Amino acid sequence: MTCEVLALPGDGIGPEVLDAGIDIAKAASAKFNLDLKIKYDLLGGACWDKHQTFCQPKTILHARKAVAVLVGAVGGKKWDDLEIKGPPEDQDGLMKLRKELGAFFGLRPARYYPKLHEQTPYAKGKVEGSEIMVLREMCGGVMFAQPRGLRIQENQRYAWDTAGYNEKEIRQFAICGFEIARKRKKQIISVDKSNVMESYRLWRSVIGEVSKKYPDVCLRHLFADNFAYQMVMRPRDFDVVLACNFLGDLFSDLAGIISGSIGMLPSASLCGMPGGPTKGIYEPVHGSAPNLIGSGSANPIGMILSVGMMFKYSFGRVDISNQIENAVEKTLEGGCLTPDLGGTASTNEVTKKVIKVMEK
Ligand code: NAD
Ligand code: IPM
Ligand code: MN
Repeated sequence: MTCEVLALPGDGIGPEVLDAGIDIAKAASAKFNLDLKIKYDLLGGACWDKHQTFCQPKTILHARKAVAVLVGAVGGKKWDDLEIKGPPEDQDGLMKLRKELGAFFGLRPARYYPKLHEQTPYAKGKVEGSEIMVLREMCGGVMFAQPRGLRIQENQRYAWDTAGYNEKEIRQFAICGFEIARKRKKQIISVDKSNVMESYRLWRSVIGEVSKKYPDVCLRHLFADNFAYQMVMRPRDFDVVLACNFLGDLFSDLAGIISGSIGMLPSASLCGMPGGPTKGIYEPVHGSAPNLIGSGSANPIGMILSVGMMFKYSFGRVDISNQIENAVEKTLEGGCLTPDLGGTASTNEVTKKVIKVMEK
């Protein structure tokens, strides 16, 4: 089996964690006899510095040819404040990549690890067993919709964005969400602000329509502010969460509190239905963590688990994904922990340990 992967290290700790992810992918390929073909390219600030764009057209072509795209992280102070004209796709390489590939279906799982309990803010008995899957729409909503801009109005600066979805975007996302929920606890919470915003009224209505085709899945709608509170207070009450691009961005970071560090969180952004192998972008949920650059202490687990998701969703190899997850769990149990998890291990030490456990 050939696995064609495009690797985009990006900025900050991106290259450090991506290296860890590639080491895991290579170890898995050696063990399972896969032909892993990796191409590298630039994304984000690293690309800007060379080509004055955050993502070159040829990178999109490479991404279209590959089955899976692995991303480290993008961004940093040097580039975040640049004033660049054009749509959001021109202002951020990752946004461009997601949009051009149509990677609309974001899976951002977070789970509880007993070994990391002390890193969470929870008292004993409140969080054990929690597993939350934030499903985030990745290609629409207020992060992409037009118009947006900045102008002088009544002698002061005025800036605006548009929060908008069409029903097709919501429907294709919701169908994927119900398919995922069907294979889990058959419960969905859809989050919105339909009490105050028109686009969320459509969101709620379309998701309600889709739910009629899934009578075996229990759907509840919650206002996003209430959900934020409930999820933090009672994380075990939640399983699959459906969220628009913007709220999904927030809630996927927030769900990290049940793991104990944002460095633990993986993600997949799929271009088609989960189930049959589909093209996807795989990246940790965290950013480029400028404060950790070069320290050798970035937690590689979010990236490593993203590689696991790649094997599951793009190459149809749940067995490999399970092995990676088990090896991560054993590595944590054995006390090999980076500083964000209360330990002193380096990125490299954790990666080597995960590989050693996998090879057993
Ligand atoms: P961040 O996720 O980079 O960092 C937030 C906090 O989490 C920091 O304290 C950081 O040290 C810590 N952290 C993050 N990843 C970690 C890891 N693997 N191990 C240990 N600790 C980790 O968020 P930020 O500081 O808001 O953003 C920094 C830059 O990253 C910005 O330019 C932002 O736009 C960008 N960003 C990129 C992505 C992405 O590429 N997917 C995601 C979020 C933010
Ligand atoms: C994420 C990030 C990105 C987003 C940024 C870097 C464009 O926060 O992947 O969660 O907002 O989607
Ligand atoms: Mn984010």
